[in-house]
Amino acid sequence: MSFTIAIDGPAAAGKGTISRAISTHFNLAHLDTGLLYRVIGAKMLAGEAPLAAAQTLTATDLERSDLRSAGVAQAASKVAVLPEVRAALTDFQRAFAQRAGGAVLDGRDIGTVICPEAEVKLFVTASAEVRAKRRFLELTQKGTVTTLEEVLADVRQRDERDMNRIEAPLKPADDAVRIDTSELNVEDAIRYAISVVVEKRKSANVLT
Ligand code: DC
Repeated sequence: MSFTIAIDGPAAAGKGTISRAISTHFNLAHLDTGLLYRVIGAKMLAGEAPLAAAQTLTATDLERSDLRSAGVAQAASKVAVLPEVRAALTDFQRAFAQRAGGAVLDGRDIGTVICPEAEVKLFVTASAEVRAKRRFLELTQKGTVTTLEEVLADVRQRDERDMNRIEAPLKPADDAVRIDTSELNVEDAIRYAISVVVEKRKSANVLT
Protein backbone atom coordinates (compact mmCIF):
# COMPACT_ATOMS: atom_id res chain seq x y z
CA MET A 1 0.00 0.00 0.00
CA SER A 2 1.35 3.44 -0.84
CA PHE A 3 1.02 6.42 1.48
CA THR A 4 2.31 9.69 0.07
CA ILE A 5 3.28 12.70 2.13
CA ALA A 6 3.63 15.86 0.02
CA ILE A 7 5.55 18.73 1.59
CA ASP A 8 5.70 22.00 -0.34
CA GLY A 9 6.82 25.52 0.43
CA PRO A 10 9.27 28.28 -0.49
CA ALA A 11 13.06 28.12 -0.20
CA ALA A 12 14.53 27.76 3.30
CA ALA A 13 11.18 27.48 5.10
CA GLY A 14 12.20 24.23 6.82
CA LYS A 15 10.67 21.72 4.38
CA GLY A 16 13.86 19.70 4.20
CA THR A 17 14.25 19.43 7.97
CA ILE A 18 10.59 18.49 8.45
CA SER A 19 10.67 16.01 5.55
CA ARG A 20 13.77 14.24 6.86
CA ALA A 21 12.30 14.06 10.38
CA ILE A 22 9.03 12.59 9.06
CA SER A 23 10.89 10.15 6.83
CA THR A 24 12.96 8.92 9.81
CA HIS A 25 10.04 8.85 12.26
CA PHE A 26 7.75 6.79 9.98
CA ASN A 27 10.57 4.93 8.20
CA LEU A 28 9.53 6.19 4.75
CA ALA A 29 11.69 6.87 1.70
CA HIS A 30 12.31 10.58 1.08
CA LEU A 31 12.86 12.48 -2.17
CA ASP A 32 14.02 16.10 -2.11
CA THR A 33 12.65 17.07 -5.54
CA GLY A 34 14.56 20.37 -5.48
CA LEU A 35 17.67 18.27 -6.12
CA LEU A 36 16.29 17.21 -9.51
CA TYR A 37 16.02 20.83 -10.60
CA ARG A 38 19.39 21.64 -9.02
CA VAL A 39 21.13 18.90 -11.05
CA ILE A 40 19.60 20.28 -14.24
CA GLY A 41 20.52 23.85 -13.19
CA ALA A 42 24.12 22.77 -12.52
CA LYS A 43 24.30 21.01 -15.88
CA MET A 44 22.88 24.09 -17.62
CA LEU A 45 25.61 26.20 -15.98
CA ALA A 46 28.11 23.72 -17.44
CA GLY A 47 26.66 24.27 -20.92
CA GLU A 48 24.19 21.38 -21.26
CA ALA A 49 20.68 21.95 -22.64
CA PRO A 50 18.13 21.74 -19.76
CA LEU A 51 15.77 19.32 -21.52
CA ALA A 52 18.58 16.91 -22.46
CA ALA A 53 19.80 17.09 -18.84
CA ALA A 54 16.27 16.29 -17.57
CA GLN A 55 15.87 13.37 -19.96
CA THR A 56 19.16 11.76 -18.98
CA LEU A 57 19.05 12.41 -15.23
CA THR A 58 20.11 9.46 -13.05
CA ALA A 59 19.82 8.76 -9.32
CA THR A 60 23.61 9.12 -9.01
CA ASP A 61 23.36 12.75 -10.23
CA LEU A 62 21.45 13.56 -7.03
CA GLU A 63 24.56 12.74 -4.99
CA ARG A 64 26.68 15.48 -6.59
CA SER A 65 28.34 17.62 -3.92
CA ASP A 66 28.02 20.93 -5.79
CA LEU A 67 24.25 21.34 -5.70
CA ARG A 68 23.85 23.57 -2.64
CA SER A 69 25.34 26.86 -3.89
CA ALA A 70 23.24 29.99 -4.44
CA GLY A 71 24.26 30.00 -8.13
CA VAL A 72 22.93 26.48 -8.64
CA ALA A 73 19.73 27.34 -6.69
CA GLN A 74 19.06 30.27 -9.03
CA ALA A 75 19.79 28.13 -12.10
CA ALA A 76 17.40 25.45 -10.70
CA SER A 77 14.66 28.04 -10.32
CA LYS A 78 15.25 29.16 -13.93
CA VAL A 79 15.10 25.69 -15.50
CA ALA A 80 12.03 24.95 -13.34
CA VAL A 81 9.91 27.41 -15.37
CA LEU A 82 10.32 25.25 -18.49
CA PRO A 83 7.21 23.04 -18.98
CA GLU A 84 9.14 20.39 -20.96
CA VAL A 85 11.70 20.05 -18.16
CA ARG A 86 8.95 19.65 -15.55
CA ALA A 87 7.17 17.09 -17.75
CA ALA A 88 10.38 15.05 -18.14
CA LEU A 89 10.65 14.77 -14.33
CA THR A 90 7.03 13.87 -13.60
CA ASP A 91 7.15 10.07 -14.04
CA PHE A 92 10.25 9.68 -11.86
CA GLN A 93 8.61 11.63 -9.02
CA ARG A 94 5.28 9.79 -9.32
CA ALA A 95 6.98 6.39 -9.36
CA PHE A 96 8.89 7.37 -6.21
CA ALA A 97 5.64 8.46 -4.54
CA GLN A 98 4.03 5.09 -5.27
CA ARG A 99 6.66 3.04 -3.43
CA ALA A 100 5.24 0.26 -1.32
CA GLY A 101 5.06 1.39 2.29
CA GLY A 102 4.91 5.06 1.38
CA ALA A 103 7.13 8.03 0.62
CA VAL A 104 7.79 11.63 1.54
CA LEU A 105 8.41 14.10 -1.29
CA ASP A 106 9.24 17.74 -0.77
CA GLY A 107 9.24 20.53 -3.34
CA ARG A 108 6.98 23.21 -4.76
CA ASP A 109 4.24 21.37 -6.69
CA ILE A 110 4.01 17.96 -5.03
CA GLY A 111 0.57 18.44 -3.46
CA THR A 112 -0.82 20.39 -6.42
CA VAL A 113 0.55 18.68 -9.56
CA ILE A 114 2.77 15.66 -8.93
CA CYS A 115 0.67 13.93 -6.25
CA PRO A 116 -2.70 15.67 -6.02
CA GLU A 117 -4.05 12.50 -4.34
CA ALA A 118 -1.38 12.47 -1.60
CA GLU A 119 -2.75 11.26 1.74
CA VAL A 120 -0.99 14.09 3.59
CA LYS A 121 -0.18 17.56 2.27
CA LEU A 122 1.81 20.07 4.26
CA PHE A 123 2.65 23.61 3.18
CA VAL A 124 5.65 24.81 5.16
CA THR A 125 6.31 28.52 5.04
CA ALA A 126 7.93 31.45 6.92
CA SER A 127 8.55 35.13 6.25
CA ALA A 128 11.24 35.93 3.67
CA GLU A 129 13.33 37.65 6.39
CA VAL A 130 13.30 34.62 8.69
CA ARG A 131 14.11 32.27 5.81
CA ALA A 132 16.97 34.47 4.63
CA LYS A 133 18.42 34.67 8.14
CA ARG A 134 18.36 30.85 8.45
CA ARG A 135 19.92 30.33 5.03
CA PHE A 136 22.56 33.00 5.82
CA LEU A 137 23.59 31.19 9.04
CA GLU A 138 23.67 27.86 7.22
CA LEU A 139 25.88 29.25 4.44
CA THR A 140 28.29 31.12 6.70
CA GLN A 141 28.67 28.07 8.96
CA LYS A 142 29.76 26.16 5.86
CA GLY A 143 32.32 28.87 5.14
CA THR A 144 30.52 30.65 2.28
CA VAL A 145 31.25 34.38 2.18
CA THR A 146 28.00 36.29 1.71
CA THR A 147 25.80 38.95 3.35
CA LEU A 148 22.31 38.79 4.79
CA GLU A 149 21.14 41.32 2.18
CA GLU A 150 22.48 39.17 -0.63
CA VAL A 151 20.76 36.05 0.72
CA LEU A 152 17.46 37.94 1.23
CA ALA A 153 17.59 39.24 -2.35
CA ASP A 154 18.22 35.70 -3.59
CA VAL A 155 15.31 34.27 -1.56
CA ARG A 156 12.94 37.01 -2.82
CA GLN A 157 13.99 36.54 -6.42
CA ARG A 158 13.42 32.77 -6.26
CA ASP A 159 10.04 33.24 -4.49
CA GLU A 160 8.98 35.62 -7.21
CA ARG A 161 10.00 33.25 -10.02
CA ASP A 162 8.67 30.08 -8.33
CA MET A 163 5.29 31.63 -7.42
CA ASN A 164 4.60 33.45 -10.67
CA ARG A 165 5.56 30.91 -13.31
CA ILE A 166 2.76 29.62 -15.54
CA GLU A 167 3.57 25.92 -15.08
CA ALA A 168 3.02 24.40 -11.60
CA PRO A 169 3.58 27.61 -9.61
CA LEU A 170 4.39 27.38 -5.92
CA LYS A 171 1.12 27.57 -3.99
CA PRO A 172 -0.57 25.58 -1.24
CA ALA A 173 -2.99 22.84 -2.34
CA ASP A 174 -6.54 23.61 -1.18
CA ASP A 175 -6.37 20.71 1.27
CA ALA A 176 -2.83 21.35 2.56
CA VAL A 177 -2.15 21.89 6.26
CA ARG A 178 -0.14 25.10 6.58
CA ILE A 179 2.81 25.28 8.97
CA ASP A 180 4.31 28.74 9.43
CA THR A 181 7.75 28.28 10.97
CA SER A 182 8.50 32.02 11.38
CA GLU A 183 7.94 31.76 15.10
CA LEU A 184 8.22 28.04 15.69
CA ASN A 185 11.43 26.35 16.74
CA VAL A 186 12.55 23.25 14.84
CA GLU A 187 11.40 20.79 17.51
CA ASP A 188 7.89 22.28 17.70
CA ALA A 189 7.53 22.41 13.92
CA ILE A 190 8.59 18.75 13.65
CA ARG A 191 6.32 17.68 16.53
CA TYR A 192 3.34 19.41 14.92
CA ALA A 193 4.06 17.96 11.46
CA ILE A 194 4.37 14.44 12.91
CA SER A 195 1.07 14.86 14.77
CA VAL A 196 -0.67 15.80 11.51
CA VAL A 197 0.73 12.68 9.82
CA VAL A 198 -0.23 10.45 12.77
CA GLU A 199 -3.85 11.66 12.54
CA LYS A 200 -3.99 11.08 8.77
CA ARG A 201 -2.47 7.61 9.12
CA LYS A 202 -5.05 6.74 11.76
CA SER A 203 -7.89 7.82 9.51
CA ALA A 204 -6.34 5.88 6.59
CA ASN A 205 -5.97 2.85 8.90
CA VAL A 206 -2.20 2.66 8.51
CA LEU A 207 -0.34 1.18 11.49
CA THR A 208 2.37 3.61 12.64
O1 DC B 1 13.88 23.22 -2.83
P1 DC B 1 15.08 23.82 -3.53
O2 DC B 1 15.43 25.17 -2.97
O3 DC B 1 16.25 22.89 -3.55
O4 DC B 1 14.62 24.02 -5.06
C1 DC B 1 15.44 24.64 -6.03
C2 DC B 1 14.56 25.21 -7.14
O5 DC B 1 13.94 24.13 -7.86
C3 DC B 1 13.41 26.08 -6.66
O6 DC B 1 13.77 27.45 -6.59
C4 DC B 1 12.32 25.83 -7.67
C5 DC B 1 12.62 24.46 -8.23
N1 DC B 1 11.69 23.41 -7.77
C6 DC B 1 10.49 23.30 -8.43
O7 DC B 1 10.18 24.10 -9.30
N2 DC B 1 9.64 22.29 -8.11
C7 DC B 1 9.94 21.41 -7.15
N3 DC B 1 9.09 20.41 -6.87
C8 DC B 1 11.16 21.53 -6.43
C9 DC B 1 12.02 22.57 -6.75
